[in-house]
Amino acid sequence: MKVALGCDHGGFELKEAIKKYISDKGVEVVDFGTYTTDSVDYPEYGMKVAEAVSKGEVEQGILICGTGLGMSYVANKVKGIRCACVSDVFSAEMSKLHNDANVLALGARVVGLGLGLKIVETWLGTEFEGGRHQRRVDLITAVEDKYFK
Ligand code: RB5
Repeated sequence: MKVALGCDHGGFELKEAIKKYISDKGVEVVDFGTYTTDSVDYPEYGMKVAEAVSKGEVEQGILICGTGLGMSYVANKVKGIRCACVSDVFSAEMSKLHNDANVLALGARVVGLGLGLKIVETWLGTEFEGGRHQRRVDLITAVEDKYFK
């Protein structure tokens, strides 16, 4: 599995921890930065990861900023992206099972290291259920097609 990571300064430390955690489990990581705690603008990194997922260069993406919110707004502007901003394990699981999320956004200042890694483990380890949920995901795509050509 190939996963893209991206963060801003607020998410740098958690991004580095996630990178080590999932690399150790055999996941291939593409790290789009940022690479230091110097202040940067999160939309640049959110867009890079979302584009990599949208183009099929990676299967999934994980974005980390202070709250996860700004990153999720950016990612959800990119075609084909369903980005879930999550701060609990149940929502992480459901975002895959029912909503087929292909990008996860985390707030490093919200979840911290332990919960952040648990959310990532749960999210990467859960697959879309399909069935009746496929129709609903298709309806989300129909909205996207209507407003973003
Ligand atoms: C940066 O201070 C902060 O605004 C950013 O990390 C993020 O929380 C935005 O949504």
